Amino acid sequence: MKVLLVNGSPHENGTTWAGLDEIARTLEAEDIKAEIFWIGTDPVGGCIGCGACEGTGRCAFGGIVNEFLDKAEKADGFVFGAPVHYAGPAGNMKAFMDRVFYAGGHCFRLKPGACIAAARRAGVVTTVDDLNKYLTISEMPVVSSTYWNMVFGFDAKQARQDAEGMLTMRNIGRNMAYLLKCMEAAKAAGIEKPGEEPRVWTHFIR
Ligand SMILES: Cc1cc2nc3c(=O)[nH]c(=O)nc-3n(C[C@H](O)[C@H](O)[C@H](O)COP(=O)(O)O)c2cc1C
Repeated sequence: MKVLLVNGSPHENGTTWAGLDEIARTLEAEDIKAEIFWIGTDPVGGCIGCGACEGTGRCAFGGIVNEFLDKAEKADGFVFGAPVHYAGPAGNMKAFMDRVFYAGGHCFRLKPGACIAAARRAGVVTTVDDLNKYLTISEMPVVSSTYWNMVFGFDAKQARQDAEGMLTMRNIGRNMAYLLKCMEAAKAAGIEKPGEEPRVWTHFIR
């Protein structure tokens, strides 16, 4: 089993990465493969709602979004991490999440996920709340921890000194591993994922 951990920071090895790395190490100690996927520093660009993804399951703009979706299709669980920029997820990460979930929602259904935020001082709770919305609209079981999923610091070195933040990260990793193992055991026992009813879209007008 494999978990993909998205680093939505412009810093490849910054504060967000330190939190994700702690989760990844914990997952690997629990015999779950872990890969950190960095969205990079190139502008991602937001979703234009063109609908081209409807038949393909991939974004018409391609790039980092489709690169991730190719991996997401095969992954069993996810962690999405963002640095706090102005009390919300960093803009590039927000654009990435919009396009990933709009084009590739099918990659996430009933796969466990968690979201984390990194900040120097404040805005983490709103950031995690924002990111969690992508999971809960995609039928993903949300993995929780022993505190809000945050690490504090200006860089990775400071984040590692956030003892409670690091413990929170390890508990996400352990709980994610446990849930994945439970789901595997359920499958082996013949418990299948529930089917889907045809979607209904009502746009508030009828
Ligand atoms: C544009 C911008 C806005 C920021 N806004 C906030 C903020 O609202 N609250 C906060 O605590 N830190 C804020 N920061 C600081 C970062 O969240 C902090 O340095 C964090 O550790 C960066 O994580 P990273 O190394 O993973 O990018 C901001 C940084 C930038 C570049």
